[in-house]
Amino acid sequence: MKTIATLLLGVSTLMASGMAAAQDNAAAAGQANLLGCMFCHNAKAKLMGPSFEAVADKYKDQADAAAVLSLKIKNGGAGVWGRVPMPAHNQVPDEQIKTLVTWVLKGAPPR
Ligand code: HEC
Repeated sequence: MKTIATLLLGVSTLMASGMAAAQDNAAAAGQANLLGCMFCHNAKAKLMGPSFEAVADKYKDQADAAAVLSLKIKNGGAGVWGRVPMPAHNQVPDEQIKTLVTWVLKGAPPR
């Protein structure tokens, strides 16, 4: 009986965390749309900017990736992916940038 209860608790915890992650991803995707990120970016395809999957792959072993990318989104810049510059987004609150960076580093899943 106790095993079953523990098992059920484990399963529901897993489901809850899966659902929370899905909400986070959907919320981040919505923010990226609202902020216009998706005019120049796509999860899988290179547009004006690199695909977010390519960004996630490039930084997957870099410990300070989140800090580097946060600064890049805030201040803009060029030269990492080519000569086209990424525009600055210094009006976006830090909290929102953090959400976006976490999501981009996961490869920008829609859900
Ligand atoms: C006008 C087009 C444009 C918009 C809008 C835009 N980006 Fe970019 N982004 C770029 C380009 C071009 C690059 C490549 C810059 C480079 O080569 O250094 C880039 C690079 C990036 C990178 C990788 C940075 C690096 O140094 O490796 C991230 C992460 C990123 N953008 C996220 C975002 C997010 C989040 C938004 C919305 C808040 C956004 N971008 C809006 C064009 C854009």
